Amino acid sequence: MGDVNWCVVATSNNSTVYKGTFPAARGLPFIEFAKKVPLYKEYDWAYEKEMAVMTSMNHPNVLRPLAVTRDEKAAPAILMEYFPYGSVLDWMQHQQGQTMPLVLQLSVFLQVVNGLEYAHSRGIFHCDLKCANVLMREDFSAVIADWGWALQGDEPITHPRGTIGYQPPEGALEATNGQRYDVYGLVAMGHDMLTGVPACGILFEQYDALPKETKKHLKAACIEAGVPSDASMRLSLALCEGIIPGIEEVVPQRELPQDVALAMLHYCSMIERTFCNYAGQRAMFSLQSARVIAEEARRKLINLQYRD
Ligand SMILES: Nc1ncnc2c1ncn2[C@@H]1O[C@H](COP(=O)(O)OP(=O)(O)OP(=O)(O)O)[C@@H](O)[C@H]1O
Ligand SMILES: [Mg+2]
Repeated sequence: MGDVNWCVVATSNNSTVYKGTFPAARGLPFIEFAKKVPLYKEYDWAYEKEMAVMTSMNHPNVLRPLAVTRDEKAAPAILMEYFPYGSVLDWMQHQQGQTMPLVLQLSVFLQVVNGLEYAHSRGIFHCDLKCANVLMREDFSAVIADWGWALQGDEPITHPRGTIGYQPPEGALEATNGQRYDVYGLVAMGHDMLTGVPACGILFEQYDALPKETKKHLKAACIEAGVPSDASMRLSLALCEGIIPGIEEVVPQRELPQDVALAMLHYCSMIERTFCNYAGQRAMFSLQSARVIAEEARRKLINLQYRD
């Protein structure tokens, strides 16, 4: 077999993800896989932790490393299946502003619920759920990746974790927990898929391009205000106007039957109400009720496709 050919798939503040290709040889097809390595030596300990969390789980909707190893510079490396579509965010960005078909959105949402329920049952909380951290295969099966912020045990969280815009807002003022982080992140993901716009209200590339100092102030201001910015406003508007983003893909030029509209509104309003979870208003859906609401919407939409 020839050498592995490596190319960079993504670089973040913390790590580089590579695609490795074994060339085809002796009648065998080429093989692709991915490798994630930390950018800096100081992140090694975080990697060790991420690897330990990931290898302790075994579920179809949780990314399971193929191997945990060390690269040629002795840095810890996570070897994993390569996902040609990348993350849900990568897929959405590829569609150039088009949102994912609703049935598919709901399927991804429910797969993430499955993975979360499993992780929570083992006392593991992801704490950084967002479209960029859910990877998809060509058949749209999805796995939760990037367990770098995961917590083992539902201890109180007193310092913000994960990604700005995807943290439960009350965490800025008081201790919160992994359960609330994951439900909030899940619903924020649902929001992003529905609207095609990040819940943090500021495009990732724009945010990334800001000077470091500005980023720090912006982050502090958002946390202090406890706002998921314009997310809730945008959804309320869509609901008031009776427009559900993406619905026309399912029912082109067709009036939406009331039961289907109701199930979809229920899903949208779960997202909207979670975003209205400002400090002081404690309502938050459980994973179980999020599942019931999303399953109902998905079932109605699928039935609709088979109605004449
Ligand atoms: N196995 C994989 N196959 C294909 N693409 C992948 C794979 N793993 C990661 N990626 C791509 O790399 C990106 C970053 O991966 P990951 O979230 O694990 O790293 P990270 O350093 O923790 O990122 P961030 O700090 O931005 O959350 C993903 O959003 C996705 O685009
Ligand atoms: Mg990530």
